[in-house]
Amino acid sequence: MSTGITETLFNAQTMMDTYAETTIAFGHDAIDQLSAHIMLNGYSTVMLVTGGESVKLCGAFRVFLQSPLFGKLELNMPRFENVPPEPDTACVRAIVRELEQEQPDAVIAVGGGSVMDAAKAALLSWQTGIDIDGLFGKEVASSRFPKRDVKRILAVPTTAGTGSEVTCYSNIIDEKTGVKKLIADPAILPLFAAVEPVFTVSAPENLTRVTAFDALVHAIESLLNFNGCRQHPEVEKWAVQAIRMIVPALPKVLNMPENEEERAELSAAATLAGMSIRMSPTALPHLLSFSFCGKAPHGAAVAALLPHFWKFYLKEEQVQRQTMLLSGIFPGSTPEEVIKSYIKFIESCGGTVHPGVLTETGTEMIDKLAEDAAQNPVKLESAPRKIRPDECGPVFHDVLDDVWSK
Ligand SMILES: [Fe+2]
Repeated sequence: MSTGITETLFNAQTMMDTYAETTIAFGHDAIDQLSAHIMLNGYSTVMLVTGGESVKLCGAFRVFLQSPLFGKLELNMPRFENVPPEPDTACVRAIVRELEQEQPDAVIAVGGGSVMDAAKAALLSWQTGIDIDGLFGKEVASSRFPKRDVKRILAVPTTAGTGSEVTCYSNIIDEKTGVKKLIADPAILPLFAAVEPVFTVSAPENLTRVTAFDALVHAIESLLNFNGCRQHPEVEKWAVQAIRMIVPALPKVLNMPENEEERAELSAAATLAGMSIRMSPTALPHLLSFSFCGKAPHGAAVAALLPHFWKFYLKEEQVQRQTMLLSGIFPGSTPEEVIKSYIKFIESCGGTVHPGVLTETGTEMIDKLAEDAAQNPVKLESAPRKIRPDECGPVFHDVLDDVWSK
């Protein structure tokens, strides 16, 4: 083990090194490694896709420009700026037009989950010629072009939460209906992820809180969805490791935002949680969170929804066993006590587990959640306790009515 690195971080990096889907460079030399990747592949035009002001504040460009290797690259670097927080189909089409014009050899997405998701969707749409509306669903492009070797984005996350830098998912809002929709396709797995935790240091307090909640819920949901866990022998280890890192680190970072060591723990955990959901996807809490779009931050919504569906899942014995894997992190001698400890943790970090408090609406919103959820059968299928689309209304009311607003 090299000096100056904690045991948890060392273990996390060892796990990242085994991830075959995306090459992950983690830490202070991540941008140098990205530059080396660009050099080795002989790219000459690299398009940057970024968000707004936050990308300047986080220092990513400064690090890019100061990287000795990056300075040697004589790159043509067109830029698509100002991807909004919840990108829609119109935003994706605008990026596609830019790609058509610039014909880049590669695309680097620098930003949070929204930026990476928009860049992933646009790059796939441009290469396949399929409009974004036709890409939603599971493996639509891959099944139409099974042998096609598509370009995949190079990702530089500037928040510690989404894990989009290592997943095959992209969430985009349908501009016509306002509904958030999912693309799940290996063709959008990033090729390279440069994870430099320093970029997250400037994140404001609430963004830090809700992105960490998102990563925590990714890890817990992937662990509970035991059928998904069977897809890869290491998923449980990645997920538990991520949770083990987030629980002590988040309160410290909220107390001292400039704490780089603990920021590194959160960044590594978010990437591990992303690896976990790549193999064992999220289900009901994430599915319902789609309808909170514009009302509450995604991470706050999933953190509030999770404990109630976790209790619902407990009717499956395997979920009870998976839950007890966390009893050393969320103390408890029964699965119910473990969930209670999770709730205590969320509240101690300034979150809520009452979804109605976040939306300031009554339980009538639950009908809308059921209506939207029925349109995303993929996520209903990945839940460890199955429900049919027509059961969403009664089940969601049963699970949420009593805890909606307290
Ligand atoms: Fe999420």
